Amino acid sequence: MKFFLDTANLDEIRQGASLGILDGVTTNPTLAAKEKKPFRAQILEICDILKDGIVNAEVVSTDYEGMLREAREVVSWHPNVVAKIPMIPEGVRALSTLSREGVRVNVTLVFSPSQALIAAKAGAYIVSPFLGRLDDISIDGLALLREIMQIYRAYDYKTQVLAASLRHPLHVVEAAKIGAHIGTMPFKVFEMLFKHPLTDRGLDAFLKDWEKARASLGEISEPEAMRKSAR
Ligand code: E4P
Repeated sequence: MKFFLDTANLDEIRQGASLGILDGVTTNPTLAAKEKKPFRAQILEICDILKDGIVNAEVVSTDYEGMLREAREVVSWHPNVVAKIPMIPEGVRALSTLSREGVRVNVTLVFSPSQALIAAKAGAYIVSPFLGRLDDISIDGLALLREIMQIYRAYDYKTQVLAASLRHPLHVVEAAKIGAHIGTMPFKVFEMLFKHPLTDRGLDAFLKDWEKARASLGEISEPEAMRKSAR
């Protein structure tokens, strides 16, 4: 599963990228607006941090011509930029044109299997079902993901399924079990994926036991030696 961060915040992206397991970033107009920077500059800075990672930049027009213009514009900024287009009829029209031109499009705001089917037929590079927003209204987001994967496998569609609007680590794990190609998550969810109290407790006990044994032998441990040399 590819990991994307759902943020336009450069500090979060830098921290995520430094771990070496980040494959891309999704932005949307709400996330980009929070950063209060010119959009192009913001996207280029993200591309610079991610190096080979995919960077999703969303259009804000809702008419065919406007979406075409914006999508062509954002992908011209950097080879790693993918244009995000909303799942509306005009968006699908724009997607059909853009996919024929070889422009990579992520179809966003997908909430039903039929919408995902249409996106694949029109040549989407990525489709983004929003799981958390469905859960928010008591509809099972993971069930939608299952249905989309079933349809795409039946027809061998090449469109990548990006599980979006993930709210907690279990969403990520379940989406991975279902086979989503990509999961995009807020930085706080990404951080939670690493955590387990038994890891922290176990490490703490290992280090204490080690220090105790070194001390009984009159040796100083590696971390202690480093602390001393730094003083
Ligand atoms: C995906 O591309 C969207 O930016 C995102 O996952 C939306 O998540 P939210 O429902 O938490 O806003």
